[in-house]
Amino acid sequence: MTYNTYENIWGALPFPAFVLGSDCKILHVNASAEQLIATSQKQMISKDIANFFHENSILVSTVKQAIKDTGSVTQYNIDVAVVGKPLICGNVYVSFLNPTQTELLMVVQPTGVAQKMSQSLTNLSAARSVTAMAAMLAHEIRNPLAGISGAAQLLAMNAKGEDIELAEMIEQEAKRIGQLVDRVEHFGDQRPMEAKPVNIHDILDRAQRAAMAGYAADVSFSVEYDPSLPDASGDADQLLQVFQNLIKNAAEAVSKNRGVIKLRTSYNSGVKLAMQGNRTQNLPLLIEVIDNGIGIPELLIGEVFDPFVTSKSNGTGLGLPLVSKIIAAHGGLVECASTTGKTVFSVRLPVWRAKKEFG
Ligand SMILES: Nc1ncnc2c1ncn2[C@@H]1O[C@H](COP(=O)(O)OP(=O)(O)O)[C@@H](O)[C@H]1O
Ligand SMILES: [Mg+2]
Repeated sequence: MTYNTYENIWGALPFPAFVLGSDCKILHVNASAEQLIATSQKQMISKDIANFFHENSILVSTVKQAIKDTGSVTQYNIDVAVVGKPLICGNVYVSFLNPTQTELLMVVQPTGVAQKMSQSLTNLSAARSVTAMAAMLAHEIRNPLAGISGAAQLLAMNAKGEDIELAEMIEQEAKRIGQLVDRVEHFGDQRPMEAKPVNIHDILDRAQRAAMAGYAADVSFSVEYDPSLPDASGDADQLLQVFQNLIKNAAEAVSKNRGVIKLRTSYNSGVKLAMQGNRTQNLPLLIEVIDNGIGIPELLIGEVFDPFVTSKSNGTGLGLPLVSKIIAAHGGLVECASTTGKTVFSVRLPVWRAKKEFG
C-alpha cells in the first residue's frame, strides 16, 4: 500500500492513527500520533507498539485480539497509557486494512467521544439522585393535590360566571401536576431488572405502532432491520419505554408531514465497553433511531441525558435520563450525534446468553 495518494487525508486526521503489521510493528503513523507519543515517525517505524504503550495495557491487548480474531475491535472508555506520559482516557478502533490481513489501522480517540461515554456513565449517578427525590416528591405531592382538585370541583359546582372558568382552571392545572408526578414517579421506579431474551424488532415494531397511533401520526417511518439480529438481554417493558421515548423525541423534532424517522438495527461484533475490575462487556447490538428534524440545540448537546434538561415549553426533561438509566441498568450504552436535519440516537446492548458471559 502506498500512502502518497492518501497522504493529505492521513495528515489531516484529527486523531492519532497507526498502521501496524500483523507482528504489532509500526509501519506508519500520522502527525497526531507523533504528538500523542511525543516521538517522530522515524523513531517509531519498525518498533513494536508495546514500546510506546504500556505492554499490559488494554490498548496493546486490543491490537493483539484483533490480530488473533482477524477482525476489527472497538474498545470504549479505556485507559490509553503512553509510556512516560500521564494516563488518558479514550476509545480505540483497530481494523484490518487489506484482505490478506497483514496490515492494521489503529485509531485512538483520546477525547470527545470518550468524554461523552464517561458522561453517559455518570448520568447513572445523576439518575440515582433524582430517583430518590422523585419518590419523595411523588409521595408528598399526591395528597395535597387530591385536596386541591377536590376543592376546585366543589367550587366549580357552586360558582357563577367567570368563577366557574377559574375553578375549572385550577382543576385542569392540578391534573397536569398529577400527570407530571406520574411521570416522575415512573422515573423513580427502582424495581430490579430481570434480564430475559428480548427480540428487539418486536420492541421497535410495538414502539412504532404506538407512535403512529398517537404523537407520530404525521411522520413516516422507515425501517432497516438486520434480520439475523440475535435477542438482546434485557427487560422488554423497559426497552419498550426506551424506544418510545426516543421515537417521541424524534417525532417532536421533525416538521409536520416531512418528518421521517428511521429505525435501524445492526450487529457489530467488535464493540466492547471496559468495566470495573478489568472486565469488558460485549455490546454487539446496535439500535439507531434517526430523524430528519431540527437537531439538538447546540447548547444542550452535552446535557440532554441530564434530568430536567428540556427545550420544550411543556417538556419534562425526563425522557432521556430515563433512557440513560434503563440502558445503563442493561450494561449498555446510549449516545447521540446531531446536526440540523439528522439526529441519531444509538443504543448498544448485550446479546442474550443463557448464562451471562462477560468477555
Ligand atoms: N431527536 C431529537 N431531536 C432534537 N432534539 C432532541 C431530540 N431528542 C432529544 N432532544 C432534545 O433533548 C431534550 C431532552 O429530551 P427529553 O429528556 O426527552 O425531555 P423532553 O422531551 O421532555 O424535553 C429535548 O427537550 C430536546 O431539546
Ligand atoms: Mg422527551
